[in-house]
This record gives sequence, C-alpha cells and structure tokens, in this order.
Amino acid sequence: MIITIDGPAGVGKGTIAKIISKSLGFKYLDSGAMYRALALFAELNGVTEKDSDKLKKILIDLHIQFIDSKDGERVLINTDDVTEDIRTNEISTLASKFAANNFVRTILREMQRRLVKNKDYIAEGRDMGTYVFPDAKYKFYLDADLAIRAKRRAGQLKEILGIAINEDRVAKEISDRDNLDMTRESCPLHPADDAVIINTTDMSIDDVVKKIESVINGA
Ligand code: DC
Repeated sequence: MIITIDGPAGVGKGTIAKIISKSLGFKYLDSGAMYRALALFAELNGVTEKDSDKLKKILIDLHIQFIDSKDGERVLINTDDVTEDIRTNEISTLASKFAANNFVRTILREMQRRLVKNKDYIAEGRDMGTYVFPDAKYKFYLDADLAIRAKRRAGQLKEILGIAINEDRVAKEISDRDNLDMTRESCPLHPADDAVIINTTDMSIDDVVKKIESVINGA
C-alpha cells in the first residue's frame, strides 16, 4: 500500500512521514533526498540544470541508495555517503532548479516507482500523490504559514548541520523555492484533488500524526 504526503518546504513532511512509517511498519521514501542527491552529483560533475544532453550522459552513472544504519537512514550516491552534504541551503536551492527539468523528473519518477513496487511505503515529497503515485490509497497535503515553516526549517538545519541559521534568510530561501516548485511546468507542487489537506501552522507534530492516523483508521 502507498500513502503519500506532499507539501512545501519546511512543513514537517519528513518528520511526520518517518513517525507514521514506523507506527505502521511501512518503509519511508524521501523523494526530496533523491532530487538533492541528483543535484549534488550534477554539481560535482560540473553540469547545470539547463544542460539536458550532459545530464543524460552523467545520470547513467548515478545510483542513489537509502541504507538503514543505527544513526537512521543514510543516503548514498554510488558508494559515497552524502547524507549531510545534501542538506545544505545551497543544495536545497540547486535541487529545486534541477527538479524543474522534465528529463530529471522522468528519471527520478521511474526510480521512485521501481523502489516501492509491491511494498508498503509512505512516499513524501512534492508530486507523490499527484504525478508519481496517483493511485495511492491515502493522500495527504501538509501546509503551514511561511514564518512557522522557516522556524521549523532553521531548527532542523541546526540539528543536522550543527550551525545556527538566520530565520529570515531561511524564509527567503523557502519562499523562492516554493515559487519555483509551484510554478514549474513539469509536475508543479499542488494538492491532489483527492488529498486530505492539513494546515499544520497551529498544530504540534503529535496533532498532525493523530490526524493522519485517524484518517487511515477511518475514525
Ligand atoms: O523536500 P526537500 O526540501 O528535500 O526537496 C528539495 C527539492 O527537491 C524541492 O525544493 C523540490 C524538489 N522535489 C521535487 O520537485 N519533487 C519531490 N517529490 C521532492 C522534492
């Protein structure tokens, strides 16, 4: 069974998806990490999002893996662990740029579908319920005010990268990214017609988890 959780940057999708996947015993697909890994790989190879011909060549050699470890899930590009490297602000922006390239989306969509085939997955991202898994059993779309998303994102970055980041800067970065993700031609971010939309601005993580579980349990 596939359950999708979509929404804009910093809304807490990843945190919520991980909790629900644990409680249901499902696997967790972090599709954003795949866009981030692809962007980092392209950057390391000196290829920009505009150069589709070069991208096609280098992406043949890109293998993204998610590995469970005692410190949580690790993200590998071929054999290199890039878990922390893909979380910088620079890669956030770059991932969003590469995500507007239709060829990139086609490649990653196929990888995502292959990964979850015949398994139970919580798939989290921007286009999971709309374009990648339109037949998902349950679809959720999380949203929240920009200021609260910036606050959550800055907290997350501090935790992952260990550096304090200015919230105004993060707000600017995520609002630019929202803009790109929502207005691109290829699979823009929007809620699926059959998604349950949850505005999490005034909700705790626990409230959101309970709300999602109540929908899944038919309560
Ligand atoms: O969820 P995230 O911040 O890790 O995602 C990084 C970027 O990747 C995001 O700005 C847009 C892109 N992305 C996408 O286009 N589609 C997805 N399903 C997931 C992420």
